[in-house]
Amino acid sequence: MVAVAILAAGRGTRMKSNLPKVLHSLGGRSLLERVLESLQTISPQRRMIIVGYQAQEVKTALQEKPAARILPTVEFIEQQKQLGTGHAVQQVIPHLAGFTGDLLVLNGDVPLLRPETIKQLLQAHQEHQNAVTILTAQLPNPQGYGRVFCNGQNIIKEIVEDRDCTTAQKQNRRINAGVYCFNWSKLMEVLPHLQANNDQKEYYITDAVNQLEQAMAVDVEDYQEMLGINDRQQLATAYEILQRRVKSKWMAAGVTMIDPDSITIDDTVILHPDVIIEPQTHLRGNTEINSGCRLGPGSLIENSHIGENVTVLYSVVRNSIVHANSQIGPYTHLRTEVEVGAGCRVGNFVELKKTKLGSHNNVAHLSYLGDATLGEKVNVGAGTITANYDGVNKHPTKIGDRTKTGANSILVAPLNIGNDVYIAAGSTVTQDAPDDCLIIGRSRQVIKRGWRMKTKPKDNE
Ligand code: UD1
Ligand code: CA
Repeated sequence: MVAVAILAAGRGTRMKSNLPKVLHSLGGRSLLERVLESLQTISPQRRMIIVGYQAQEVKTALQEKPAARILPTVEFIEQQKQLGTGHAVQQVIPHLAGFTGDLLVLNGDVPLLRPETIKQLLQAHQEHQNAVTILTAQLPNPQGYGRVFCNGQNIIKEIVEDRDCTTAQKQNRRINAGVYCFNWSKLMEVLPHLQANNDQKEYYITDAVNQLEQAMAVDVEDYQEMLGINDRQQLATAYEILQRRVKSKWMAAGVTMIDPDSITIDDTVILHPDVIIEPQTHLRGNTEINSGCRLGPGSLIENSHIGENVTVLYSVVRNSIVHANSQIGPYTHLRTEVEVGAGCRVGNFVELKKTKLGSHNNVAHLSYLGDATLGEKVNVGAGTITANYDGVNKHPTKIGDRTKTGANSILVAPLNIGNDVYIAAGSTVTQDAPDDCLIIGRSRQVIKRGWRMKTKPKDNE
């Protein structure tokens, strides 16, 4: 049986932020969410989160998607005063009465841990029947971390906090990652008796490790997983590491990236082979891009599904669906809840909102369509605008198959235009129209032959 305690009660003073440290976002998800996700391979019996600083905010933040799906299995335990990591773990004592098994303790600020690494820690712990097993790594720059001193067999002699280290001890690059697996009954022999005799006058969980036998270190090969986030610099470094991981994965899976350093991709995005991503393109959230697409340069695609062989050039696409073989951009904004049918051209300086285009539509130049539903093979002339908002409510516009709106048409909603309709350029359309007709809604042009401007005689003439 495994129970988990995540330490998330600290403010994170070094972040210099009003937001609790564990709620800072790393590539679209908070540090805490990421730590929770790294537990997915071990399916623990209990998940306890120790909260304190802005406890309510931390709870509420997890209630938002996508973390909400794990929430029913999470217990929040309050640490009223933050007296150190050992004190934080003491808070679970009343909640684990009668528990027999292992307690996995994780700092809430280690967001890059791989699920496999945690599994490896548990396996080593159980195999060697240790009292405690911890993750360690050799860091190029170990400054700020607790140093772990071991014998040749990875048996821990001592962990010393950076600030409590002698100059000689600081030379040790082997660090404590803040991830521990304790045999709960062994831990209970020492946990209630921790002392705060150190530089910070805090109760350290590392002191419990120092008092237990046998305590073993498991070295993690990729030291980057161990990065603890204490300040904004480390947050930025973590983002870089995450980006490198995500991009290598997709390049190995057949995605081309031109100038990868200028591209950002959330780890929630799904890509298919033979997608080409050009510079300055950003893919976020719940986005899926199918084979043969060419994205960018200069595009942002968020929470959207893009079909095969679509191009998106200098455009913003959010919460939308684009079907196969369509061309988006340059300078298109699919604002939200847009569905573009197959084989469409949505072009230069066009904004669409809550709008559905059937297949093979052209909306090629300078248009705004909001709350509109278009049939197939519709041609939307340059500068066509749906006047969908009367100042109080939004109204829908419907346009039938093969209809063509003339340049500079204004479609005043609510409006229902049939199939095979022609709208004359410059029309302001306010009334519904049946299939097969021509709508002209503009003032007639007048030509006055021989007309001249009346000139007034100047005063001194
Ligand atoms: C801790 C370890 C250090 C290790 C490093 C790894 C101790 C004493 N030191 O140091 O050996 O190398 O993590 O990243 O444990 N927290 C609480 N309540 C408290 C204090 C802290 O919940 O009273 C939480 C924080 O919110 C944070 C985590 O515990 O998520 C770690 O605290 P932090 O202050 O960042 O510890 P470090 O100084 O980094
Ligand atoms: Ca830390």
